[in-house]
Amino acid sequence: MSYEHLISQRDGPVERLTLNRPDVRNAFNEHVIAELTAWASDARDAAERHDIRVVVMGGAGKMFCAGADVAWMSKTVHYTKEDNLRDATAMSRMFGAIDELPVPVIGRIQGAALGGGAGLAAVCDIVVADQAALFGFTEVKLGILPAVIAPFALAKIGRGAARELFLTGARFSALRAKEIGLVHHVVPADELDDAVQRYVDELLNAGPEAVAAAKALIPTVWGRPTAEARPITAAAIAARRVSAEGQEGLRAFLEKRAPAWSQRVVGTRDTKITKDGTKND
Ligand code: COA
Repeated sequence: MSYEHLISQRDGPVERLTLNRPDVRNAFNEHVIAELTAWASDARDAAERHDIRVVVMGGAGKMFCAGADVAWMSKTVHYTKEDNLRDATAMSRMFGAIDELPVPVIGRIQGAALGGGAGLAAVCDIVVADQAALFGFTEVKLGILPAVIAPFALAKIGRGAARELFLTGARFSALRAKEIGLVHHVVPADELDDAVQRYVDELLNAGPEAVAAAKALIPTVWGRPTAEARPITAAAIAARRVSAEGQEGLRAFLEKRAPAWSQRVVGTRDTKITKDGTKND
């Protein structure tokens, strides 16, 4: 599928998605939201077909994403209340669709991730940031609210940090973003791609179904009382143990070989996974 405001590139099992409106620092409007939602639906299908195992999300040019397009939002003053609600619901659906992708999403953040851009960082599973990058839930500075992104941002940074950062709208450093759990790894700009690649390699050496199950487990268990979570978690591991992938992983460990899904170089062999999941030495 081709897009006007996104670049989607397939690199084997890695889907590289780039927000591509560098002139406005990759701010998103209703068209970008529609494209991102359609992209997420395609990426879900590709993940379910086992065509992709990892997504890397980045932004073209100087900055990752300056959030919602201010020109678009100011235009909504002429919308009816219903139109505004429909618009905001579409944005919420977009964040949800990325958040729930059944493959890991790595955010590659350079320059800045502000407002909805910080929201996009929040729906990534792993975030790697340039040490000079700036973050901010800046909406209140514009008289609006970090509302749609709140569930995703709160799940990452917690209520304490949100009370400071949602209320002040202050910009903060990549190191602060790491302290509060929005970012996982901070590196100099020229090391960003290598740091992202190390995460990609790590993920490609994990069982793809196990990774998807681990991702799904987190929101399932989060916030549940332990007694309620216990039967869910027991059923989850019991299902993985007897699955073909679980059995392959356990056997491979005992036989001191790479599992079928692994792309790691083992000894002199370069083990690659094919589209249908079989090993190709
Ligand atoms: N929506 C629409 N346009 C935006 C934008 C946004 N969120 N953020 C930046 N732009 C546009 C600017 O208006 C400018 O357009 P112009 O060239 O026609 O004047 C262009 O992008 C470059 O912005 P500029 O501020 O000149 O670039 P910069 O590199 O010095 O700074 C930012 C970039 C992102 C730090 C700065 O533009 C900024 O603070 N933007 C607002 C971010 C924000 O608060 N987002 C939350 C929205 S809810």
